[in-house]
Amino acid sequence: MDETHIMDKQRRRILEGSLALGVLGTFGCSAEKDTVAAATKTEWGKTRDGEFVDIFTLKNATGVEARIINYGGIVVSLKVPDRTGAMGDIVAGFDSFDDYLKPPPYFGALIGRYGNRIGGAHFSLNGVEYKLPKNDGENTLHGGLRGFDKRVWSAKEISPQALELTYVSKDGEEGFPGTLTATVRYTVTDANELKIEYLAATDKDTVVNLTHHGYFNLAGDGDILSHEAMINADRFTPIDKGLIPTGDLKSVAGTPFDFRTAKAIGSRIEEKDEQLAFGRGYDHNWVLNRTGAGLELAARVTDPRSGRIMEVWTTEPGLQFYTGNFLDGSLKGKGKTYTRRSAFCMETQHFPDSPNKPSFPTTLLKPSDRYQTTTVYKFSK
Ligand code: GLA
Repeated sequence: MDETHIMDKQRRRILEGSLALGVLGTFGCSAEKDTVAAATKTEWGKTRDGEFVDIFTLKNATGVEARIINYGGIVVSLKVPDRTGAMGDIVAGFDSFDDYLKPPPYFGALIGRYGNRIGGAHFSLNGVEYKLPKNDGENTLHGGLRGFDKRVWSAKEISPQALELTYVSKDGEEGFPGTLTATVRYTVTDANELKIEYLAATDKDTVVNLTHHGYFNLAGDGDILSHEAMINADRFTPIDKGLIPTGDLKSVAGTPFDFRTAKAIGSRIEEKDEQLAFGRGYDHNWVLNRTGAGLELAARVTDPRSGRIMEVWTTEPGLQFYTGNFLDGSLKGKGKTYTRRSAFCMETQHFPDSPNKPSFPTTLLKPSDRYQTTTVYKFSK
């Protein structure tokens, strides 16, 4: 591809991005500082199609810092203080852009158009059957073969603390109907939060479930089994052996899935339990206890070693808690080897396979509606 073509492609994306904002409207006034100064931007790599990828550094007043690329909206690093005030990077990631082009564990990425699994790689909508790519056994995982995590997003620097990314997914892309314009705003707030606001609009009825796939290790190294987790959920969605929800909402009471009061992640993870066996550990969706539609506490994880605490607040009804069971030591980055259970994910979302489960909260998006969700990862010590 020649230079002019690439330039055209990039310009088109930027144009699509600005049109998108026209379509979507804007976020509330969530930028932290009333300033025109921008996040620090540096060129970081090039895709196989020759598209340039930039890395943006967002930093708050106390030095909490996120580095984010406009490929997949990946949070490459996230530095927060430990109990002594020392900053440490608490997300799994790689050192160079090229490492992110290899088959993914989805480190730090934005996931779409449909985060998590769609069973049998198909669903029907308005009487039409849509066939999707199978990229996880018989199922579709995280938006298909080339989901939003593998796309270059157009980037708009909002402030030194906020970055807005837009991706226009074409009608029929990865089998999904409708042109979907998605805009995600990342903000590092002065309350030591990484706030993620999602907006989307479509031109045809479609299904949407956007999430963020950060892999956290609050100690920065070692495994996460001694981290203590609280999940604000009385129920979870049990799965079959393909990790597709059966459709039931099962009480966590008396099971290894009961995190209503904080306990070490590793305390029951090896118990003989059919659900744990299917997930090879925790890889399930919890049905969050909710009282309304606003931001509510979904989970709190504490690392006794570093003293770091992470809270997850969300407007979403579900939380996929995944304990890095598929990490097998083959990936390396930041001087570390990503071994089994060396990181955990808390993916806020609608429930997996909702397009095929009419009893679950709907993931249908109509042209007359706007998709709007917010998730906040809040750090303290
Ligand atoms: C999600 C899934 C897991 C796994 C990871 C990526 O969290 O639920 O089963 O596929 O993504 O490896």
